[in-house]
Amino acid sequence: MAILLAFFAILGGGLVAFTFQITYEQIKANERAALLQTLSSLVPRDQYDNDLFEDIHYMRNETLLGSDKPIVIYRARKQGQPVAAVLNSVAPNGYNGAINLLIGISYEGVLMGVRVVSHQETPGLSDSIDERRSDWILGFNGHSLQNLEEKDWRVKRDGGVFDQFTGATITPRAVVSAVYNTLQFFQQHRDEIFLNAN
Ligand SMILES: Cc1cc2nc3c(=O)[nH]c(=O)nc-3n(C[C@H](O)[C@H](O)[C@H](O)COP(=O)(O)O)c2cc1C
Repeated sequence: MAILLAFFAILGGGLVAFTFQITYEQIKANERAALLQTLSSLVPRDQYDNDLFEDIHYMRNETLLGSDKPIVIYRARKQGQPVAAVLNSVAPNGYNGAINLLIGISYEGVLMGVRVVSHQETPGLSDSIDERRSDWILGFNGHSLQNLEEKDWRVKRDGGVFDQFTGATITPRAVVSAVYNTLQFFQQHRDEIFLNAN
């Protein structure tokens, strides 16, 4: 009986481990596919010919990138020439904590797009930062440090050009400032960002 029990226990354990492995790989593959879809919505697929997942770089700047940890930078290139970078910056001062962003910037320093990857902002009040909820985040497209003055990088309530939401200013303020800071970082570190293609 003991041998039989041990046999079934091993069999059961093996099945659980096998199922976990299969599920885990499927989850990873799904996450990767979703991330690639988001990256391609920021940098159109026909504008680069390298593997964004391979050509990554890690850089740290808590003040401008919003995290005390190194963030990942996906680098898009065409025939070896830099085209754009997507920086996984953080807006640390959301109403309910950190807002995780993907910010696509062309080599010339123009915003190609911004997407919210994760947040805990209040549903129905400030989750309009999420592209699936409203177009608000598309308002960044085409802007740069060259075509907007420093004073414009605020929500309208603070004298800037970006809409806030009814009853919610903290969330959009946090995102606008994170995007502005990331553009500053890009301007200061562009060559370093594209150094050493992997
Ligand atoms: C329960 C609750 C949840 C809130 N959630 C948010 C939020 O997610 N984002 C936000 O910007 N403001 C949120 N607010 C509103 C803020 O407290 C604040 O009043 C608003 O952002 C305006 O900020 P301001 O006075 O600095 O312009 C929430 C308020 C309450 C009572």
